[in-house]
Amino acid sequence: MDWRHKTVAVFFLLCSLTDIRAMGQTPDVCSSCHANATCDDKSDGSGKVCNCMYGFVGNGRTFCQDKDECQIGANKICGHHTSCHNTYGSYYCTCLSGYSPSNSMSSFIPNDGTHCQDIDECQVSGLCGEGGRCMNLDGSFECHCEVGYQVHNGAQPFHPQRDKASCKVIDCGQPPSAEDMMLMSATGTRYGSVAVFDCDDGLLWRSGNNTCVCGADGAWKGPTMVCEAKCGPIPFLANSEVVWHDRSVVIHRCVDGYHSWRGSNVSICDNTGVWQKATLTCIAKCGPVPFLANSEVVWQNRSVVIHRCVDGYHSWRGSNISICDTGIWQKATLTCMAKCGPIPFLANSEVVWQNKSVVIHCCVDGYHSWRGSNISICDNTGVWQKATLTCIEIKPAITDLVVFNEKCLWWKAEKYEDDTEVYKVIYMGSRAYQRLFHDKRKRFLNSKADRLQLCLNLLPATNYSISITAVSAKFTVTVTTNTSLKAPQAPVIYYREVETPLPTLRLLRPTDTLDQISLYQVFVLPVEAVMVFDCTSPGNSDFSSKQKSLEQYVTAQIQVRRVGREMNFTVGDGLYYGGFYNAPLQNGRDYYIILRAVSQWNGDFKSACVLWAKAKGTSYVIRISSLSAGGSVGLVTLVILGGYSYSWFSKM
Ligand SMILES: *[C@@H]1O[C@H](CO)[C@@H](O)[C@H](O)[C@H]1NC(C)=O
Ligand SMILES: *[C@@H]1O[C@H](CO)[C@@H](O)[C@H](O)[C@H]1NC(C)=O
Ligand SMILES: *[C@@H]1O[C@H](CO)[C@@H](O)[C@H](O)[C@H]1NC(C)=O
Ligand SMILES: *[C@@H]1O[C@H](CO)[C@@H](O)[C@H](O)[C@H]1NC(C)=O
Ligand SMILES: *[C@@H]1O[C@H](CO)[C@@H](O)[C@H](O)[C@H]1NC(C)=O
Repeated sequence: MDWRHKTVAVFFLLCSLTDIRAMGQTPDVCSSCHANATCDDKSDGSGKVCNCMYGFVGNGRTFCQDKDECQIGANKICGHHTSCHNTYGSYYCTCLSGYSPSNSMSSFIPNDGTHCQDIDECQVSGLCGEGGRCMNLDGSFECHCEVGYQVHNGAQPFHPQRDKASCKVIDCGQPPSAEDMMLMSATGTRYGSVAVFDCDDGLLWRSGNNTCVCGADGAWKGPTMVCEAKCGPIPFLANSEVVWHDRSVVIHRCVDGYHSWRGSNVSICDNTGVWQKATLTCIAKCGPVPFLANSEVVWQNRSVVIHRCVDGYHSWRGSNISICDTGIWQKATLTCMAKCGPIPFLANSEVVWQNKSVVIHCCVDGYHSWRGSNISICDNTGVWQKATLTCIEIKPAITDLVVFNEKCLWWKAEKYEDDTEVYKVIYMGSRAYQRLFHDKRKRFLNSKADRLQLCLNLLPATNYSISITAVSAKFTVTVTTNTSLKAPQAPVIYYREVETPLPTLRLLRPTDTLDQISLYQVFVLPVEAVMVFDCTSPGNSDFSSKQKSLEQYVTAQIQVRRVGREMNFTVGDGLYYGGFYNAPLQNGRDYYIILRAVSQWNGDFKSACVLWAKAKGTSYVIRISSLSAGGSVGLVTLVILGGYSYSWFSKM
């Protein structure tokens, strides 16, 4: 207001000066001028004229009234966004609300270039309040609510002063609660917050969305999740009932008359929608604990009872556990036996094995068991059935054993009673000269005698080992006997009287075990008046000489093993036999041919002789002296010492 008064004052000053000047020059005209007129010289110089002052219109004398410049409109006179203010004799402009003058003054006269420009009210922060967003308009502004806020007390856009409206934060409040599900998490309660739900235990999320969101309208949207029971009907357990359950857990219990024997009593609905069924087994109760004689119960539960024998008894055999099985006791098989006390004593014995009911005795060293059982048994009345064993001192059952006549045995029997003893005699023969030979035989002899004699059928020239066992006394003695060499059997020959110079003679070999060590010798005896041939004489010298004397000589020696079943031998064939030269017989002489079988072993020498043939010259009568009866008939006498000659006799 101050600046307006000043302008008016200056204006008045100017007017007064003009007025004074006019009045001085043209007093009459000028004096008639309106107070608000000036007295001016006419343009043609013809006097004075009154002119209303600037801003006034009128005739200059009677009236000069104010000119309303604003009449033509503020827009035209002041410019856009202005208001025009008329004053007495003048006017001024101001900017409309929302605009500010470009000269930063409160009013202006337009012709100074000033114009009104829009004010950006939004430069000032907080204009729209919390959550409000300012929006500048031409000459004004408006408020909108930010996301998460909504208009309160009005509608948007709004003007904070004009309207009572304001922006208020959107808050949906606590997330909704829904049946069958539970809130798992929420990011808040304001606009855009998200709450997550999950199905209650035992329920399965079948469809829909498990989240809800705080919407722009301040309300929660969702969840649309559909939860359904997972596992279906409650599982059934035989003989049981349900004590408690919810959707995912069931607790079972056995019904009356049954008890839970084993297993879990809880069924659980697992994550896959399957009941993990309780394993509870309900079994019928079995009634009183079974009774076992002489026993007591050491431990029990509803289905198992453990028994034990009472003092003075011991468990002999059987199981000590009774089991209640579906209402029936599977009774223990335990047998309790009375204890028998100390192990019975048996003289000269010791215990080799024992358990609670059986003892095995055995005689100590130097004694042997004789008759009776060696087992003591504790019977079920608690009494030892004592072993009947007798242990008697061991004495040799066979003494003074001797061999006589090479093949006979003699011994003394040592017995405890007048019992018959059984003797087992085993004899085994072997021969050094005949490796494959084995003569193994066995004999039994039953005898009550105190002195015994036994002759065995032993083979000759054999080493025997003989063992005799007294069977009941279990006593054995062993002796050896070596049988002597026997004279061999006489060879079986075909006696001949021949005339040829080369008589061929024949023999049959006897099957004899001594063949191995035997040989044949062929003797040639030139016939003389008296001839003596000693069959037992072992040697003969000069056997290989071709020059045969007139005396008897060996013409051939043949190992018996080289002879087959039979043999033909030609006397005087000029060959060697066993190193002996079989010299041809001399013409015109008579000979006896003698065949000798010889057995020889270990310095022992046994032989048998037979007259095999007579190579004929003259007729002789042959007489045998020595083992056999014989006589001297005729001129010639042949005496064969120490030998046999059956064949020869038969031929004579
Ligand atoms: C002349 O004008 C002034 C204002 O400028 C006013 O106050 C006054 O009354 C006017 N005089 C007459 C006689 O109209
Ligand atoms: C003792 O041993 C005998 C024979 O082996 C057997 O039959 C018996 O059952 C056993 N007794 C005990 C109590 O072990
Ligand atoms: C018997 O034994 C003796 C001594 O060892 C031995 O010299 C002999 O040849 C044996 N006799 C037989 C027939 O084996
Ligand atoms: C019999 O021969 C054996 C060897 O085989 C020898 O030990 C034993 O003393 C001989 N016996 C007799 C009675 O000669
Ligand atoms: C021995 O001679 C007899 C009669 O001449 C003959 O039958 C036999 O086969 C002969 N034996 C041998 C082993 O040559």
